[in-house]
Amino acid sequence: MDTLEALHTRVSAPRLGGDPPDENVLNNIFEAALRAPDHALLRPWRFIVVKQDGLSVLGDLFADVTKEMNPDATEAEVEKARGKPLRAPMIVVVVANVTKHAKVPDIEQVISAGAAAQSMLLAAHAQGIGAMWRTGGMAYHPSIHAGLGLSGHEQIIGFLYMGKREGKSRNLPGLSVEDYVSYWEGPGNTSA
Ligand SMILES: Cc1cc2nc3c(=O)[nH]c(=O)nc-3n(C[C@H](O)[C@H](O)[C@H](O)COP(=O)(O)O)c2cc1C
Repeated sequence: MDTLEALHTRVSAPRLGGDPPDENVLNNIFEAALRAPDHALLRPWRFIVVKQDGLSVLGDLFADVTKEMNPDATEAEVEKARGKPLRAPMIVVVVANVTKHAKVPDIEQVISAGAAAQSMLLAAHAQGIGAMWRTGGMAYHPSIHAGLGLSGHEQIIGFLYMGKREGKSRNLPGLSVEDYVSYWEGPGNTSA
């Protein structure tokens, strides 16, 4: 698949199965992440791979945190949370490692980590691996951060679920470039 084809056809894969991507494929995914644009070359990201038994351990953590967030959660709600990490054979937790910098505001560092995440989705797609970027309440909860070993200033910006796409690929939405692009030639002089 060439670069433009990958960029134009990436689509999320909500249903994933099979084995985790093999080492070579995964390495290509991380190499792509490391080429994300990065003001002042801070490398404001790190990636935590969760697979095999780690997925059930993460599921147990999701279940505990669901109970912590809502002591009235039903058994079904707790079990639903427990099952979430099991929706793929592998999850890459994308962590933004934001540090104070005179010229690089926090938001730029988070955006960089987001760009790394998108590059991973594209590198996965280009190699025939299905993927989906998810967050939800678990991404932002301090007990999840502690469980995954994040330090105080680190944030989770995504759980990238990866594996073999199951079921049919969704149709690409028919978005039109002209709905999102305008041309500016000076104040009050913008054309579609
Ligand atoms: C930061 C971020 C967080 C997201 N979190 C979720 C999520 O928790 N659950 C979900 O169903 N989709 C989530 N999405 C959206 C999906 O990853 C996906 O982009 C969306 O369903 C559109 O599908 P597409 O990627 O095929 O266009 C998130 C996207 C981003 C960028």
